[in-house]
Amino acid sequence: MNRFGFLIHPLGMRDVVRHLPNVAGKRPPLVEKVLEWTPSYHASHIHGIRSTLDGREVEGDFFTVPLFPHQILNLDRQFVLNRVLDACRLAEERGAQIIGLGGYTSVVGSAGRTVADTIQAAVTSGNSYTVATAIEGATAAARALEIDMTRASVAVVGATGSIGSVCSRILARQGVGRLNLVARSTSRLQALAETIRRETPRAAVALDTDIEAGIHDADVIVTCTTSGGGILRPEALKSGCVICDVAVPHDVCREVAQLRPDVLVLEGGVVEAPGEARFNFDFGFPEGICLACMAETMTLALEGRFEDFSIGRGLEMEKVEEIQRLATRHGFRLAGFRAFDEPITTDRIEEVRALARDHRKGLRVVSS
Ligand SMILES: NC(=O)c1ccc[n+]([C@@H]2O[C@H](COP(=O)([O-])OP(=O)(O)OC[C@H]3O[C@@H](n4cnc5c(N)ncnc54)[C@H](OP(=O)(O)O)[C@@H]3O)[C@@H](O)[C@H]2O)c1
Repeated sequence: MNRFGFLIHPLGMRDVVRHLPNVAGKRPPLVEKVLEWTPSYHASHIHGIRSTLDGREVEGDFFTVPLFPHQILNLDRQFVLNRVLDACRLAEERGAQIIGLGGYTSVVGSAGRTVADTIQAAVTSGNSYTVATAIEGATAAARALEIDMTRASVAVVGATGSIGSVCSRILARQGVGRLNLVARSTSRLQALAETIRRETPRAAVALDTDIEAGIHDADVIVTCTTSGGGILRPEALKSGCVICDVAVPHDVCREVAQLRPDVLVLEGGVVEAPGEARFNFDFGFPEGICLACMAETMTLALEGRFEDFSIGRGLEMEKVEEIQRLATRHGFRLAGFRAFDEPITTDRIEEVRALARDHRKGLRVVSS
């Protein structure tokens, strides 16, 4: 049976406490120090992934790089890279033929390039399938709110990243009304806009380094930054908009759930795995549900495609299409819409639609 490994890391104190309850109540700087001293470790065994195409099975393991997102971004680069490489070597020792770099572990070492060059097993960030499912989810949610993507103003926040750039290029090619590219670096935004204008000359593209300005008139937002979370605030959002939040930790701050009942937030890249998938690890989803980056790694293991599939910041549009086709044929499916740890009901979608309609008529939206 083909085997894969997948690297994870805690997103915040909640994740650490979930696995180490005696850490509850300890001061964050102390917990961070303890994490710095803790080596990467095997977290759980994954089994029951069975292709609906031919019944083929794969199994694998989660490995934890015990560092918070901001530690991965800000600690000494070589130190962090070594932690990621240590976790990959543990995966290789357990027989992984392909290793997925989850969360921020794919951001280090030139977006996974150094890890892929150092490790013998194949390596992928899982970002191609993440893009495919984010676009699929955002488009389905827009349809549910009767937003016509071909006329809509669509913003991609984190547009210049590995996920954001190919996502923006595909959205431009699919023909959205207007595309707002949002990130902090102007030069990278300009380079991306030039690529898009070259590939899709008819695309209407605007740039913004100010998030609020970049999203205030957006009907649809795909957000995929490594900001550490919480950068999309309730007051900045257009009534009736859809936000597909791909970032982990999430870019949409939790107040949006209370203060903006007239917008529809969904977690991007949430996928149902085929078979009787058992992850034996609580990462906040119901049994059998995982992230698209995990699903990409499993799909490649099912296919026996032991190659560095999604590595670096310049992902290919063709690979996004290919992995979507492969994942679908093995039975991976977009999970129902979820946000803020809960499934989104049809009543909730109807509520957003009604509140947005009232807002357009000039009636006030009252939050619960
Ligand atoms: N749901 C899933 O299955 C899944 C799978 C893989 C990854 N992810 C998540 O997706 C996100 C992006 O991953 P990636 O590999 O594409 O990362 P990346 O290549 O490092 O790109 C990050 C992007 O965010 C922008 N950015 C960073 N901080 C920002 C801020 N404070 N304000 C505005 N823009 C900011 C960066 O541009 P500037 O530096 O110019 O601002 C860049 O455009 C991460 O949160 C990751 O955990 C989710």
